[in-house]
Amino acid sequence: MTDQASLPVPIWCDELEYEYAALVERLELLVPCLEIPLHLPWIDAINRLKKQRGAVVMAHSYQSPEIFHGVADITGDSLGLAHAAATCDAPLIVLCGVHFMAESAKILAPEKTVLIPDLEAGCSLASSITAADVLALRARHPGVPVVSYANTPAAVKAESDAICTSANAVQVVESMGTDRVIFLPDEFLGRHVASQTRVELVLWHGRCEVHEKFTAQQARHAREQFDAKLVAHPECPPEVLAEVDFVGSTTAMGRWLERERPERVALITECSMADNLRAQFPATQFIGPCNLCPHMQRITLQNVYACLRDLQHMIEIPADVGVRARAALDRMLSVGRRERA
Ligand code: 13P
Ligand code: SF4
Repeated sequence: MTDQASLPVPIWCDELEYEYAALVERLELLVPCLEIPLHLPWIDAINRLKKQRGAVVMAHSYQSPEIFHGVADITGDSLGLAHAAATCDAPLIVLCGVHFMAESAKILAPEKTVLIPDLEAGCSLASSITAADVLALRARHPGVPVVSYANTPAAVKAESDAICTSANAVQVVESMGTDRVIFLPDEFLGRHVASQTRVELVLWHGRCEVHEKFTAQQARHAREQFDAKLVAHPECPPEVLAEVDFVGSTTAMGRWLERERPERVALITECSMADNLRAQFPATQFIGPCNLCPHMQRITLQNVYACLRDLQHMIEIPADVGVRARAALDRMLSVGRRERA
């Protein structure tokens, strides 16, 4: 395994500034100017290595701007990245996101090599539940189907009937065709979904450590002080969701901005996401509050480079777990196909 401190720093040369002029212009809006010359040599080295390896780099919307804009071939929310992994041609995927996202890519593309730049990039929701917990819930609620949020480990997915993301949770729950569904593991997302459907949900007590910190007072402050529209991710507490103009998944928030084009907006979600959308909507002013996901922040240009150079941090999933988790993920993807048909 490569020790990051021993990585040779790629050399800066003036030509890079010309070669990456469009990227520099975008990054100038998003990161301190002094950082850009430090990022460019790594971005260039990664882009070259990517070509040599025939790799595709995927980045979740919560990745820092230098990764999201600098080296990613495919960007998106967790649902979008799962689709892309299943359909892209590249034999090698570097997943810049957290561990459960890289696992989903591997489950859907078991013949491909999936690397994650830091194996420790976890998620408080994914670590809130185990496969044994799912089996215990099934025993307590016999015959009730289990829908698990994508933010779960592969072993939990394998014990579930279907997977959902925040973008499709209501549709997946309703597709089960039952009056009750066990919904795991995010309690706040579960309460939001329950408010949108007649299906009764049995909930777990998982929380996103980033979104649970937002408060109703912060939301009110953004509206009263800055006359901002408020948009929130459904992993936020219910009292926050009650204050906002729109509740939606990562992708739904982008679409809302596209539609509404507000003068000012407070995105009550992980704040790299606000940074990345800021580049897309320069006429809109983005107001805090801002919480960063510490797990997403573990991914850096340096460890993306090391992972590509040394082909390290491969995602491995036991075959039987992979097959059962795949069936649950396929069920989610087929709901999406039915919705689009
Ligand atoms: P999305 O499913 O919207 O990509 O969100 C994943 C996540 O981790 C949200 O905190
Ligand atoms: Fe997990 Fe929350 Fe980080 Fe998303 S923001 S990866 S739910 S800890």
